[in-house]
Formats: sequence, structure tokens, C-alpha cells
Amino acid sequence: MSSSTQTAQYNPAYHRFTLILAICTFLLIIAGALVTSNDAGLAVPDWPTSFGSLYRIPPMVGGIKYEHGHRMIAEFVGLLTIILAVWTQRKDARSWMRKLGWFMLLLVIIQGTLGGLTVKMRLPWYISTAHAMVAQTFFSLTILMTVFASRRWIETTRTLTRQPDSGSLNFRNLALLTVLAVYMQLFFGAGFRHGGLHFLPHLIGACIATLILVWASFTGLLRFGAIKPIRGASIAILGLLVIQLLLGVAAYMTRVVWGKDAVQPRPSMVATTVAHVAVGALLLAHCFMLAVQAYRNLAPAAGLAADQKAVVA
Ligand code: HEM
Ligand code: HEM
Repeated sequence: MSSSTQTAQYNPAYHRFTLILAICTFLLIIAGALVTSNDAGLAVPDWPTSFGSLYRIPPMVGGIKYEHGHRMIAEFVGLLTIILAVWTQRKDARSWMRKLGWFMLLLVIIQGTLGGLTVKMRLPWYISTAHAMVAQTFFSLTILMTVFASRRWIETTRTLTRQPDSGSLNFRNLALLTVLAVYMQLFFGAGFRHGGLHFLPHLIGACIATLILVWASFTGLLRFGAIKPIRGASIAILGLLVIQLLLGVAAYMTRVVWGKDAVQPRPSMVATTVAHVAVGALLLAHCFMLAVQAYRNLAPAAGLAADQKAVVA
């Protein structure tokens, strides 16, 4: 079977499961961000045990409730990922989807190990930053799996007509660029949050990322607005970007300007920084969706002409 003829059957239970995993992962990202914002990264000093035990739940007080709570949710997400990987092997006819299932399992193992290393190595900024980046990559992929398992994706596979998209900076490349721009922001933002980088790169990066995201989403709306998933992702990116910029300013004010002499994390700082991490994750996931939909629905004009000739012949 060549990859273009591999079609999957829509499976509502599997689709619902991918959605549950995506929602749990989003909650896990919020739980992880709460650990960092509450300065609770070393509240549980050992790993893989918690205060010497693999299964006993420690008293959930102070920073421990964030740190151990985060580990417990992470273990649950790990369990769901094992089920997802095995289920995908058994039920999905698309070999690339089955590979993606295994890849998710590998990624969650890497992520758990990085989480353990943050504790073992006492929070070096580069490990915490890698942990933050893999977290959002894993979340974005759970969202993509939900899209790939959806009825709309599966049932349009055979009927899809691609539209021409040419030029050196075509829409497909532009959509990929949005993913890179948000990754750049994630790296600079996490590097700053974990004390390894200055704030300036994140600030300059915000201007560059804003330009790229506005450019891509307006192009998506104005040129390809008739393609529903491209229109939807473009609108979502614009909305999330506005929220993210406002939250960024709020995070800066509460963390750096008003919060620098705080003895312990203030609720306003925790709320704004956690929200900035969470909306950043949603933004990354939507940029991934835009790129995937651009590659699915568009093709170089020359390639399309050749396709049509092949059909006529
Ligand atoms: C699927 C698994 C996991 C996901 C998606 C995840 C996600 C996250 C996220 C998003 C953050 C916040 C990063 C930031 O604010 O910059 C975080 C922080 C953290 N996570 Fe995880 N995590 C996972 C597993 C684990 C595990 C198994 C541990 C084991 C101890 C762990 C320990 C930590 C610690 C200590 C922090 C705070 C790091 C710091 O303040 O520097 N994580 N996690
Ligand atoms: C496209 C726009 C932006 C994106 C995608 C973005 C993304 C992010 C992400 C993902 C993080 C945290 C990474 C992590 O540890 O998990 C972060 C941190 C941060 N960002 Fe942004 N950001 C943007 C714009 C801004 C702007 C405009 C400002 C302020 C003027 C800002 C201020 C901050 C601050 C202060 C932090 C660190 C928070 C802390 O110390 O807890 N961001 N950003």
C-alpha cells in the first residue's frame, strides 16, 4: 500500500481518546508551569522516588503539592500515551500514524527523564528549558493526532482538491516559519524564565514573531480563507497572539518590575506567568495545525498541472 492510498476508518472512541490526552497534557503544562512559577522545582528533592517512596503520596503541603502533583499528572499522561501508542498500532491503517504513535511514547519517556534530570541536577537552566520545549512539542503533537483522527480529516482524504501555492516564500513555507518563530520565543522565554538568558532576545523575538504570525494569518485569511481549516487556524493564531502579547507584558510587570523584591511568589505573578506559558502552548499547537493544513491543502502550481495531466492520461 502506498502512503497516499492508506486510508483509515473513522473511529469515534479513538478520536475521543486523542482529545482526552490532549486536554490532560494541557492541564499538565499548567501544572508544570505552576511548579516553576511557585519556585517549587526542588520541593521534592529526589527522583524517581518522592521522599524515598515510589508510590506513597507525601503530605501535599507548600511547594510539594505542586511538585508531586505535577509528577502524578505526568505519570497519568505517560500511562495514556502507552495506551495511545498500542491502540494506534492495532487500529490505524496509516503507517505514518502508527510511527507517530511510537514517537509519542518515546517523547513522553524523554520528557519524564528530563523532568527527573531537572531534580537530580538541581535545575540547570538548559535542562529546565529543554523540559519546557519538549512539553509543548508533545502537547502540539497530541493536538495534531486529534486532527488526524478526526472525521473531517479521514473522510476528506479521497476527495481533497489541492489549490496552487507558488513562489519561493509560498504559504506552506510561511506557515512553517510561524512554527519556527514560536519555538524561538519558547526557547528565549524559557531561557529567561529559568535564569539562563537575558530578557532582550525574548523581547526582540516577540517583535519578529508578531510580524511573521500576523503576515501568515492575514495571508491565510485573504488568500486561502475559503479553505475552512486554514481560515480557522489563522483566526485562532491572531486571537491567541493578541492575548499572548498582553500576557507577556503582564508577566514582565508582575515578575520583573513589581515582583523583583518579593520574598515569595505573588499570586498575580504566578497567574500571569502560568497563563503566558499556557497560551504559548496553544499558539504553538495552532501554528503546527496551520502548517499541516497548508501542506495538505496546497501544492506547487507546477506539481498540480502534472497531477492533472496524469489524471487525463
Ligand atoms: C509528560 C510529562 C511531562 C510534561 C508534559 C511536563 C511539563 C512541564 C512543564 C510545561 C513545566 C513548566 C516549564 C516552565 O514553566 O518553564 C514543567 C516543570 C517541571 N517539571 Fe515537568 N513535565 C512532565 C514530566 C515531569 C516529570 C516526570 C518530572 C519528575 C520529577 C517533572 C519535573 C518537573 C520539575 C521539577 C519542573 C520545574 C522545573 C523548574 O522550575 O526549573 N516533570 N514540566
Ligand atoms: C509572540 C509572542 C510571544 C510568545 C510566543 C511568548 C512565549 C513565551 C513562552 C512560551 C514563555 C515561557 C516558556 C516556558 O518556560 O515554558 C515566555 C516567557 C516569558 N515571556 Fe513571552 N512570549 C511572547 C511575547 C512576550 C512579550 C511581548 C513579553 C513582554 C513584553 C513577554 C514576556 C515574557 C516574560 C517576562 C517571560 C518569563 C516569565 C517568567 O519569568 O516566569 N513575552 N514567553
